[in-house]
Amino acid sequence: MKKFVINGGKRLNGEVEVSTSKNAILPILAASILADKKDVILECVPSITDVERMLLIIESIGGKVDFNNGVACINSENISSFEVLGENPSKFRASYYMIGSLLGRFKKAKVALPGGCPIGERPIDQHIKGFKALGATVELTSEYIYVEAKELIGTNIFFDVVSVGATINIMLAAVFADGVTTLENVAKEPHVVDVANFLNTMGANIKGAGTDVIRISGIKKLSGCMYQAIPDQIEAGTYMIAAAAIGEEVTITNVIPKHLEPVTAKLLEIGIEVIENGESITVKGAKTALKPIKIQTLQYPGFPTDLQQPMGALLSLVEGTSTISERVYENRFLYLTQLEKMGVKYAIEGRDASITGTKSLNPAVLIATDLRAGASLIIAGLCANGTSEVLDIDHVDRGYYKFDEKLKKLGADITRLEV
Ligand code: EPZ
Repeated sequence: MKKFVINGGKRLNGEVEVSTSKNAILPILAASILADKKDVILECVPSITDVERMLLIIESIGGKVDFNNGVACINSENISSFEVLGENPSKFRASYYMIGSLLGRFKKAKVALPGGCPIGERPIDQHIKGFKALGATVELTSEYIYVEAKELIGTNIFFDVVSVGATINIMLAAVFADGVTTLENVAKEPHVVDVANFLNTMGANIKGAGTDVIRISGIKKLSGCMYQAIPDQIEAGTYMIAAAAIGEEVTITNVIPKHLEPVTAKLLEIGIEVIENGESITVKGAKTALKPIKIQTLQYPGFPTDLQQPMGALLSLVEGTSTISERVYENRFLYLTQLEKMGVKYAIEGRDASITGTKSLNPAVLIATDLRAGASLIIAGLCANGTSEVLDIDHVDRGYYKFDEKLKKLGADITRLEV
């Protein structure tokens, strides 16, 4: 088991560079198998566990992968299998993007059901609705999903739920469909736009990504290309929140400030100074007492659910009672049971939580129950009065590239141990 040992109380200072977006690069890797003979070359790919798992999947179906120094070169010419089964795909969520890609390429796909963070039920009914609307039949068992179509035909699909995964998956399946596919009530997250941009760079004809309606005009082939995905909005937000909690002056580089507006707005409301400069953001630690706030997580451009847990750690240090309404997932408050060990008082009612902050956090042994819970607990550990441990950090390694090393560079006292 891997864990972090954190000697809390060291103020963060300096510059930290954000890596490429996990939630953009994973579907982009899945999309790369749609290319013809030419290589897809992806730059600045972070070697986080989820990326490594996705590359293994591509190799397992016959793709050629060369991943060195952050550059992933993928050749899909010899891919012949439409099956992604076994343990690896069921260990993370984004493996489900192989359903859309393989369906697009082979008109059939058999993919193990995805895993991912335990933060709610996470059904895939909207993906299935989309595949069926394009003309596929769907067989769903407790282990895999099998989709097959004689041909994929463009159509209008109105999603009942705004879903990042369903929007991207149907985009992947529809690029080779006959005619025009119109997706309505789609997710507008920056990574949805980035995947559309990547597919367009390969030769697709996708319009409207970033709005409520996406139109995909089917084409016959996609070609390899070079591409660099967007910086990770959630990683950037995590450093902003850490800096607000225990920073003096931290500059977060390689960011798109527009993607972080909901976070910036909430930090300003709490009383933190946030300065945007082009491709970086500087966060200055508070000089006066912070104010409790209300947060509601929503789809983009609302406050991102993926930053709700890190924000909970910050609110634990804000005297008074803050409230969080989690509108995306029904079970994303498990981390509060861990923060309680540090002296934080909280109450949960359905999808709403209230957190009554304390002046200082007690050190504790904490268990990371999922990726962003891990980030939240690490931030709390950085702020605590003494030595804390965060266990089960495999979750954190799934999505944060060199989290401990980047924090160390900012002055944190954090050590990775393998027990
Ligand atoms: C993606 O998950 C991200 N994962 C999540 O990142 C992120 O929290 C989420 O989008 C929202 O931004 C990846 O990109 C790999 P959704 P996804 O489909 O696609 C419901 C992180 O920490 N829903 O937008 O699975 C669903 O239950 C993570 O990096 C249906 O009801 O999320 C949820 O309540 C965790 N039916 C809501 O929609 C469906 O068919 C949003 O889910 C699909 C989703």
